[in-house]
Amino acid sequence: MTIAQTRGKRGKMVNGFDPATAADLAPRTRDAIERRARLLGPAYRLFYADPVEVVRGRGVFLYDAQGNEYLDAYNNVVSVGHCNPHVNAAVAAQMDTLCTHTRYIQDGILDFAETLLGTFEDDIGHAMFTCTGSEANDLALRMAKYHTGAEGIVVTAEAYHGNSELTSGFSPSMGENSRLGTWVRRVPAPDTYRVDAADLGAWLAERVSAQIHDLRRRGQGIAAFVADSLFSSDGVFAHDPAMLAPVVEVVRAAGGVFVADEVQCGFARTGSHMWGYQRHGVVPDIVTMGKPMGNGYPVAGIAVRPEIAAAFGHDMRYFNTFGGNTVAMAAARATLEVIQGENLQANSARVGGVLKDGLTAVAARHERIGDVRGAGLYLGVEMVSDPETKTPDSAAALALVNEMRRRRVLISATGPYANVLKIRPQLIFGEDHADRFLTAFEAALDTVLR
Ligand SMILES: Cc1ncc(COP(=O)(O)O)c(C=O)c1O
Repeated sequence: MTIAQTRGKRGKMVNGFDPATAADLAPRTRDAIERRARLLGPAYRLFYADPVEVVRGRGVFLYDAQGNEYLDAYNNVVSVGHCNPHVNAAVAAQMDTLCTHTRYIQDGILDFAETLLGTFEDDIGHAMFTCTGSEANDLALRMAKYHTGAEGIVVTAEAYHGNSELTSGFSPSMGENSRLGTWVRRVPAPDTYRVDAADLGAWLAERVSAQIHDLRRRGQGIAAFVADSLFSSDGVFAHDPAMLAPVVEVVRAAGGVFVADEVQCGFARTGSHMWGYQRHGVVPDIVTMGKPMGNGYPVAGIAVRPEIAAAFGHDMRYFNTFGGNTVAMAAARATLEVIQGENLQANSARVGGVLKDGLTAVAARHERIGDVRGAGLYLGVEMVSDPETKTPDSAAALALVNEMRRRRVLISATGPYANVLKIRPQLIFGEDHADRFLTAFEAALDTVLR
C-alpha cells in the first residue's frame, strides 16, 4: 500500500467497527449494535471488528458478559485502575455528604487546587475546573485570545483537542468532514521516524514561524500554539524532548501563548515527569488536563499563569455547574493521592521501560515493525509494509489490533494513516501484565504477518 492509498483513510475513525460486517457477528452482539444505532443515532462508533461488550472492570482488567477477562492496555482514563477502591470510597463518601458548585466556600476545592498547583512550576499560580478536556481547551483558548487580542491558533497536522465548536475547529484529526477554523494553521508533527533533521526543535520552530507569519499577513495574529507533547493523535512522538523549547520561544516572541494540552500525557503518564511538557524543559502559559484526573469521574481543568488569567477574570466571570463541584474535587484528590502515594510515576517509567524493551526486541525479529517509540506507559508501534520506504501499513496495524482483541488484550491504533499501534495501559500495569502483553503480541504478530 502506498502513502497515497492510505491517505484516503484520513478522516475515517481509527479502529472503528464497520456496520457492514455486522452479519458475521454473534446474534447478541448484532442485536446490541442494532439497538445502539436505533437509540443513539449514527454518530457513535464502536471499537474492533468484533466489538467487545464490557460489563465489569477491576484493576487492569475488563470483563465481558460471559465473564471473559481482557487485559486492558488502552484505557488511560482509569489510570489508577478500573474501580479503584480508594477513589470510589472518596466519591461515595462525598456524594453522601455534599455535592454542590463553586459559588460557596468549600475547603475541598482549595485543598485540591493547592496540591495540584504544587505539581507545577511556581510561575503557574491558578487552577480552574471543568468537566471535560474539551471544555478545558475551550476555556484555555478563550483566555489566550482575550489575553493576546489575537485569533490564530497553530496545531500539529493530526492534532485532537476536543469536541466543542471551538476545539473541534482546531482538531484536524477529526477528518476532512469536520471544518477547521479559518484562524487555524497546521504544522507537520515532529515525526522522528521520517524527518531527518539534525535539530528537530529548529525544524519545528521554523514551520511554526512560517504559519505565524501567514496568520499575521491575514491580520489574525497568533493567540496560541497548542500541543500535546506526546503528539498522541499524530502517531506518538516522544523525542527529542528538547524540541518544544525553540517553538515556544518563537510563539512568545510573536506575542502568542503556549498551551500544553496534558489531557493525554499528564498525571505521570510519561514516567519521567508528572507533566509531559516538563520533559521538554519549558513552562507553559496554560496547561489543560482531563481524562485520568478523576479516574473516570468527569473532572478536568486548566492551570494558568496569573498574568494570563488576570484580564479575562476581571472582565468576565467563570461558572461551570459541574466543573469543580464537591464530588469532582474528591475524585481528583483521591486519584492524585493514589498516583503520588503509590509512586505510579516511577511504575510508569519502570514498566513502560520493560514493555518498550520487549517491543523493541520483538521488532528486531519483524521488519514490518518500522519503529517502537514513546515514553513511560504511552507507546507507539509503527507498522510499515516496507522498512526501506517506511510505507505506512494501516491494514497490518488494524489486523493486529483485532487479533490482540481476539486474544483478549485491548489496544488501538493512531496516527494519520492509522498504522501506529497505541499502547496506553493504566499506570498500575505491572511487569507480569507487560509479560502477558508481550506474549500475546508475539503470537498475534505470528498470526497476522505469517
Ligand atoms: C489531547 C486531547 N485533548 C483534549 C481531548 C478532549 O477531552 P474530552 O474528551 O474529555 O473532552 C482529548 C480527548 O481524547 C485529547 O486526547
